[in-house]
Amino acid sequence: MIIFMRLDKLLCEMNIGSRSQVKELIKKGFVCVDDTVVKKPETHVDENIVTITCQGKVYRYAPYVYYMMNKPSGVITATYDEKERTVLDVLRGELLKYGGLAGIPLKDISPVGRLDKDTVGLLLLTNNGNLSHNLLSPKNHVSKKYFVKTDGPISDEMVLALENGIMIGYEEKTLPAVIEDKNQDQCTITITEGKYHQIKRMFHAVGRNVIYLKRLSMGTLVLDQRLLEGQIRELTKEEVDALCLRT
Ligand code: URA
Repeated sequence: MIIFMRLDKLLCEMNIGSRSQVKELIKKGFVCVDDTVVKKPETHVDENIVTITCQGKVYRYAPYVYYMMNKPSGVITATYDEKERTVLDVLRGELLKYGGLAGIPLKDISPVGRLDKDTVGLLLLTNNGNLSHNLLSPKNHVSKKYFVKTDGPISDEMVLALENGIMIGYEEKTLPAVIEDKNQDQCTITITEGKYHQIKRMFHAVGRNVIYLKRLSMGTLVLDQRLLEGQIRELTKEEVDALCLRT
């Protein structure tokens, strides 16, 4: 049996207004479902196929949304915080600049994984909980590539230790990592797990402090170099398909 969604609930989920606001809009005849005015908030509609028009503006229900952010430094990877600016605040601000929040299920969107407050770079935000789970599950060993700058030269011995796997805490050994593009005090490092402060602790274990950390990729998803820090863009269909297929 297919259970369709009530029209007023659908409009709420699309962020068009509160339940009472959307009921008013519907009753006043401001809402069309597939070009027909519908005045009963309790009307059930198939949210996946209908086109909603409200006060002349057309909306499509997108059950899943996917945004790539170039996370700026100084914001925390959380959905809400009383004191600190969060990545959801950044997302909301960017969406408001380009087209507004209507139609976007903001309350269900979360960041996939965590970056430290001072870490910049690729952060995926989505309301697709399954994808999020698959990308973060330790079983799946999804690779994450970072650009790192340290407070001193990175020696070949350090590279070897990092690549072999290194103790970063009591009985906590990292899986082998891949170091590339080493140049003096900077390199890229690819890891396939996500321990707390992992990159910083790995470099600390070989005697270096990380002074700049930027995530470049996660699984098949690569940071769009055109995005400045604090900017977002929607993922392309190809990017979403690749992520969903290969995790
Ligand atoms: N490793 C860290 O130490 N910090 C991050 O933000 C991500 C990975």
